[in-house]
Amino acid sequence: MTHYFDTLIIGSGLAGLRAAGEAVKKGSVAVLTKLYPTRSHSGAAQGGIGAALGNEEPDSPEWHFYDTVKGGDFLGDQDAIEVMCEDAIRTIVELEHLGVPFSRTPEGKIAQRRFGGHTRDFGAAPVRRACYSADRTGHAILYALYEQCGHERVDFFPEFQALDIVMDGNRCLGALAVNIRTGEIHAFNAKATLVASGGYGRVFKTTSNAIASTGDCLGIAFNKGVPLEDMEFFQFHPTGLYGLGILITEGARGEGGMLINGKGERFMERYAPTIKDLAPRDMISRAIMTEIREGRGIGGRDYVHLDITGVDKKILNERLPEISAFCKIYMGIDPSEKPIPVLPTAHYAMGGIPTDIDGRVSRDETGEVVKGLYAAGECACVSAHGANRLGCNSLLDTVVFGRRAGMAMGEFIGSVGKSEIKRDAVDAVKENIEAVINSKGKEKAGEVRAEFQKLMMDKCSVFRNEKDLTTLIQELSSFKERLKDISIKDKGSAFNTELLEVIELGHLIALGEVIAASALQRKESRGAHAREDYPKRDDENWLKHTFAFKTDRGVEFKYKPVVVTRFKPEDRKY
Ligand code: FUM
Repeated sequence: MTHYFDTLIIGSGLAGLRAAGEAVKKGSVAVLTKLYPTRSHSGAAQGGIGAALGNEEPDSPEWHFYDTVKGGDFLGDQDAIEVMCEDAIRTIVELEHLGVPFSRTPEGKIAQRRFGGHTRDFGAAPVRRACYSADRTGHAILYALYEQCGHERVDFFPEFQALDIVMDGNRCLGALAVNIRTGEIHAFNAKATLVASGGYGRVFKTTSNAIASTGDCLGIAFNKGVPLEDMEFFQFHPTGLYGLGILITEGARGEGGMLINGKGERFMERYAPTIKDLAPRDMISRAIMTEIREGRGIGGRDYVHLDITGVDKKILNERLPEISAFCKIYMGIDPSEKPIPVLPTAHYAMGGIPTDIDGRVSRDETGEVVKGLYAAGECACVSAHGANRLGCNSLLDTVVFGRRAGMAMGEFIGSVGKSEIKRDAVDAVKENIEAVINSKGKEKAGEVRAEFQKLMMDKCSVFRNEKDLTTLIQELSSFKERLKDISIKDKGSAFNTELLEVIELGHLIALGEVIAASALQRKESRGAHAREDYPKRDDENWLKHTFAFKTDRGVEFKYKPVVVTRFKPEDRKY
């Protein structure tokens, strides 16, 4: 089936929905999503959305700007960071007007809590900057934005999985997707196409990310010659439920929770004496892993405790009900009585499809634009988070840059004619599907995926080194071969999730290779990229963004200088 729209949006998380609400003011909009829209992974974001409202104590967008630059270990592009932090207050007011039920102070203002790396007076002490809806902030915003899209007559295509982004030279023509319910291939012709398909935490064994976070559109874009930026920077959230990786919000520490090792010590006092358990995530994840490696895990094992037993029960009930329920359901622990076993969990990709501050995708390190192609949210790298994102800046990023991309697309569609996807593109996608369905290979997708995710976790997670990365890259080439040898049992068309999992696995392996190769190249430690063999940050040689390109010779690299407008790199002490 063939469709024609002015704007096509792939993904229905916060970035996609906010962009849709804007683009629909200028033309027709289709949103395709492989889930039902309100099941998008944005809905799993718990603790808050950052804005210097100053509702609970003095704050300023300038402090927010500084914290974000420093939190990102000075790799973030400061033009983008400034836009995000300056637009934050307007964004929260707008969300409230759209119906987001934020938690309130006793006087009725939007309540705010502490989050890692957010400080007053340029690092003097933690500040209450995260606006929240209990610990279901993403969920609350997702529902409000989805409802608004309904009012604006956006066309939704739920349970449609993107299979290709179609290019004609340097112009994007739209995308091809499969209707998961029927197996039918649909061609979506669009003047402007926004990729807002979220992250790819499923590259790793232990992750807070949803099953669907497989980075399909990044894999597709990379295959089409679009570079991927800063892929070596993958954030591990310090507090994943032990053994499961489910997120326990940083808001728990914002409300007074503490991390405790096997000796009963509040160990973050040693690593970040000023802001302790509210240090940025990269530092806390490394601290936890160091405690464990040095034998100070709980009972000498591979986890530490998050202790929120000292937090008032009324606060737990009102502000942290979701994580309290998770602990009871998944661990059989009442967190008001007993500490929670936690371990870092793969949480957020700083790297992604390179864009400018209006979501336009760059085709290279010079910033030349791919006509008609946009990206926003976690799949994009506008570089507002540099080498390490601060908590509660991700929801902000999605809404600020989603809106900007929506406005930019609204303008762009007035300047170009209709696009027309050719039959060959559809045939090529069908052939790929047939090849998987007809494969007589010996491998099973689930087994290959589990081995791949374990390998990524073992060799390329919180700490990295040359030996492990080199071995990993060699082993990944055998995974690419094994991928071709996978066969599936389900030969049908309706809900063939077995087939779709093979396609997703191909993207995961390709992204794993880019992450590992980018990490091997970067011979320094910065933010979430911690090289044991290069433990220091090296601004002289590495204050630059990685651009990875797919070539016939394998992944190749170019680099782009960081935009430094205001804050010069300094020692990152907390
Ligand atoms: O800890 C959290 O609630 C996560 C929030 C975020 O990633 O911004």
